[in-house]
Amino acid sequence: MRQIALAFIAALFLLSTPSAKADEGMWLPMFVKRLNYVDMQKQGLQLTPEEIYSVNNSSLKDAIVRLGGGFCTGEIISDQGLMLTNHHCGFNVIQENSTKENNYLRDGFWAMNNEEEIPAGFSVSFLVKMEDVTKDILPLLGVELTEGQRAAKADSLIKAIEETASTDNDYDVQIKSFYNGNEYYIFIYETFGDVRFVGAPPSSIGKYGGDTDNWMWPRHTGDFTLFRVYADADNKPTKEYSEDNKPYTPKHSLPVNIADRKAGDYSMIFGYPGSTDRYLSSYGVEMAVNISQPAIVKLRRQVLDIYEAEMAKDEQTYINYADKQASVANYWKYFKGQTAGLKRLKIYDKKKAEEDAFEAWIAKENDRAEEYKNVISNYDEGYQELSKIILKSTYDIEAIYRIESVSLAWRSRGLLAALNTDDEEKQAKAIESAKASAQKHFKEFSYTIDKQVFAAMVKAYSMDIPKEQKPEMFKQLVNKFKGDFNKMADKIYSNSIFTSSERMMDFLEKPKASSIEKDYLYQIAKTIILEDYVQNLGTQKRAINEKLDNAGRLYLKGIREMNPTKAYAPDANSTMRVTYGSVKDYFPRDAVYYNYYTTIEGIMEKEDPKNPEFLVPAKLKELYKAKDYGQYANSKGEMIVNFISNNDITGGNSGSPVINGRGELIGTAFDGNWEAMSGDIAFETELQRTISVDIRYTLFIIDKYAGAKHLIDEMNIIRELSPNPNTIKEEKVEEAATETAE
Ligand code: ARG
Repeated sequence: MRQIALAFIAALFLLSTPSAKADEGMWLPMFVKRLNYVDMQKQGLQLTPEEIYSVNNSSLKDAIVRLGGGFCTGEIISDQGLMLTNHHCGFNVIQENSTKENNYLRDGFWAMNNEEEIPAGFSVSFLVKMEDVTKDILPLLGVELTEGQRAAKADSLIKAIEETASTDNDYDVQIKSFYNGNEYYIFIYETFGDVRFVGAPPSSIGKYGGDTDNWMWPRHTGDFTLFRVYADADNKPTKEYSEDNKPYTPKHSLPVNIADRKAGDYSMIFGYPGSTDRYLSSYGVEMAVNISQPAIVKLRRQVLDIYEAEMAKDEQTYINYADKQASVANYWKYFKGQTAGLKRLKIYDKKKAEEDAFEAWIAKENDRAEEYKNVISNYDEGYQELSKIILKSTYDIEAIYRIESVSLAWRSRGLLAALNTDDEEKQAKAIESAKASAQKHFKEFSYTIDKQVFAAMVKAYSMDIPKEQKPEMFKQLVNKFKGDFNKMADKIYSNSIFTSSERMMDFLEKPKASSIEKDYLYQIAKTIILEDYVQNLGTQKRAINEKLDNAGRLYLKGIREMNPTKAYAPDANSTMRVTYGSVKDYFPRDAVYYNYYTTIEGIMEKEDPKNPEFLVPAKLKELYKAKDYGQYANSKGEMIVNFISNNDITGGNSGSPVINGRGELIGTAFDGNWEAMSGDIAFETELQRTISVDIRYTLFIIDKYAGAKHLIDEMNIIRELSPNPNTIKEEKVEEAATETAE
């Protein structure tokens, strides 16, 4: 009887509290217990909420790290601070340490002991805890404030709270806004500045399939890299590398499960998704599809053609531009796919329908109508105004700032300012720092590439930007060379101090302000980036954002009021999130079915010795021929490479652990799929999948390919089967509901 009563109370409770479901949603770990736990159990989770997120006891969150400020995610997989992330997350480190003699990009790298590990040059942060601070901020932002005043007030409140919190200890503190400024949370991190590079496969494994396969399923990429976190003698973080440091002993490290899996198995991903725009209005979708995204795609393709042609000619150029090419290419393809996806999936129409429903809802009551009356008209007006400047704004960054010599010139502002004072000490400092940054810049600079990029980008700018938006200085320059952009590039590049290491270093021996001021590349940076982009467009955008931010904040407040029982997940903002669901196949289009995993057979099918994106290393082929997969094959003898699940991730999640129902690592997330490239704006349950490297392939490469068995020995390897979600009993779910209700 009592049982029935409890179940009844639980059912009531479930009706009146927001409830969440699997797949869509990047949830805050501190709310898992309240919002997601019941559903997670239904999906097959066997952990308690405290085993997922706890402030006082070690929990899953203690094995998850943010890389740098959130460029990727990593997970700790041994009690000696061994950290796993993606090959594309470690790509910059691999590239910077590569030379023609030791080409780790091409051949991979494996430290056979701690001494051989290489300082990585980035830090990692562990989340200590998070808390809701909405009540310390929101009530102080009165309705009488304009949106701009409101933002300024919020900023100053945030700074004050952050400062008080950080005087307590040496943790890093950050407050972030959620739901477009309707809620605020504080995050406390412990940051480790000594991280070392432990191992990476060759690009022919770690980036197998290259840009052709990027953002696509079926996939066959061993996209993983290993690092190690170091701490001082007391296991405390240090700001940077120190010889005296030792491997960090983590609060928690993930066991690794290598047993068979199947479709429907529980999968949960923890990580640091960077940003999504799930509440973007139909007006925003329209602008993205028609103006900004096609512009980005067009400009990036031109840049890539130049990079790729020169990289193919020379190995050193290849090494120097590998990372630049990868990042330009990644978002070239991203935006190409996103525009196509937004159109194909009719996202504009869906957003419009949601906005219509919202307008119908506010019309029903006078109070609502009063509070929300300007939301849609503000979107409309704001995007009309933004649409007039968005092309110019996009070109300022994607075309002009992409030119490496312009960006170097832009970064000489500090030096110029110092030279224009009498402060000799300040000047000496500025010169030193300019020397250091020039050295770094020219180490990976190709005059030939950048000159071509300059000619192409300046030409595109000249042709595509409306006359009245082009600065006078720019028009005069084009006239001077009678529209011959190659000639312009030749002339400017052969004289500028920003295009030659020798000229720059000579200049820095006896620097004069006038040498910077009269340099054309500096003048372009000053006119287009500083005066136009930062100042003019900045002022215009601030005015537009008064409308758009107001609309965005009130729209979210409104729709949450309109649907009180629906749990809305907040947009990604580089804070720790958890997404859960299951390993799952899909139908990408009519009559086509995609299985949920790929095998080494597919690597061999795709092999193409003439295409650098599809080379298979000889050693891998030998292992394949001998079927030498060790303990990493499944019970059918297959070597699984990648798999998909219906989890909700985005950029920044790269490297995140995929965790089974028992809290064990089964894979490393590294990509999204082509059919759902609009996912950052609208999640498509039937189509959207996360692509991950199966942990068994990662271990196989470490063990059999690289012979780095000592790394496997550090890990806690589990060989038992993952739990079957169907064996989870109904009562257990009810029990959990009751518990959560208390
Ligand atoms: N699309 C992946 C992501 O954004 C990056 C993959 C890198 N591989 C490549 N071929 N560029 O996380």
